[in-house]
Amino acid sequence: MNCFLLNSSLGKKLVMSITGCALVLFLLFHMAMNLVALVSADAYNMVCAFLGANWYAVVATVGLAALVVLHFVYAFILTVNNYKARGSQRYAVTVNEPGVEWASKNMLVLGVIVILGLGLHLVHFWSKMMLVELMGSEITQIGEEVVHATDGAAIIAFTFSKWYNVVLYIIWLAALWFHLNHGVWSMFQTAGFANDKWYPRLKCASKLVSTLIVLGFAAVVITFFVCSICGCCADACCSEAAQACTEACCAGHAH
Ligand code: HEM
Repeated sequence: MNCFLLNSSLGKKLVMSITGCALVLFLLFHMAMNLVALVSADAYNMVCAFLGANWYAVVATVGLAALVVLHFVYAFILTVNNYKARGSQRYAVTVNEPGVEWASKNMLVLGVIVILGLGLHLVHFWSKMMLVELMGSEITQIGEEVVHATDGAAIIAFTFSKWYNVVLYIIWLAALWFHLNHGVWSMFQTAGFANDKWYPRLKCASKLVSTLIVLGFAAVVITFFVCSICGCCADACCSEAAQACTEACCAGHAH
């Protein structure tokens, strides 16, 4: 069977663009959802309960996993094909060519870092929330404590009270920034916007989108870390079960 999406280089790039676009939309939604945690623990936990082990949330999770797998498998195939096509010139690409961004030459490596970070992130959050609920339990263990599986605010406060998690998430988010910065631009290019007029505009749009997404996530990580050490905290740190917060800090917040 001669399938355009499987056999041609353009078809594979199209799959990368479509899956990449859907993943960027997910990231924008996920980042915006997490910002709610900075404003209200209860509101954030309501969103978490809505996106818990309900059939629509499970369907969305399966769809999301399929997008990540497709995006990664096609990236791998395209990279291997490019590598083969370069033949004896394959070592020439390690020389820095002017105008060729570092990220564009390291998309697969950046993607692997993003996937590894995602694995750790799912262990920190998804496995303690949706998975626990799918297994039929309503409570989950964070450190020494037991909290409700939809108490996302408590799990965030606990996770980012550990300095090593903060360091790992910042490295992960930096890799995500480089990956998105080139990826969003590349998506537009595949869609045919690669002329002189649009080039600088789309470069700027890619930087804006990737910076917005990464800063939004980083704001949550850093706010909760600072909250855990100095007590001057966001409301979400003071959800009943959040152990990262000092009592003095939480006293100023009404539950
Ligand atoms: C750094 C701040 C972040 C926080 C506080 C955060 C928080 C969460 C929480 C609470 C969940 C569990 C939701 C549930 O099961 O009900 C979750 C799931 C998830 N997160 Fe994040 N997240 C962050 C960053 C990211 C980033 C940067 C990515 C992607 C690169 C990401 C991708 C995911 C995915 C794929 C899931 C599973 C979604 C699903 O179950 O459908 N998250 N996150």
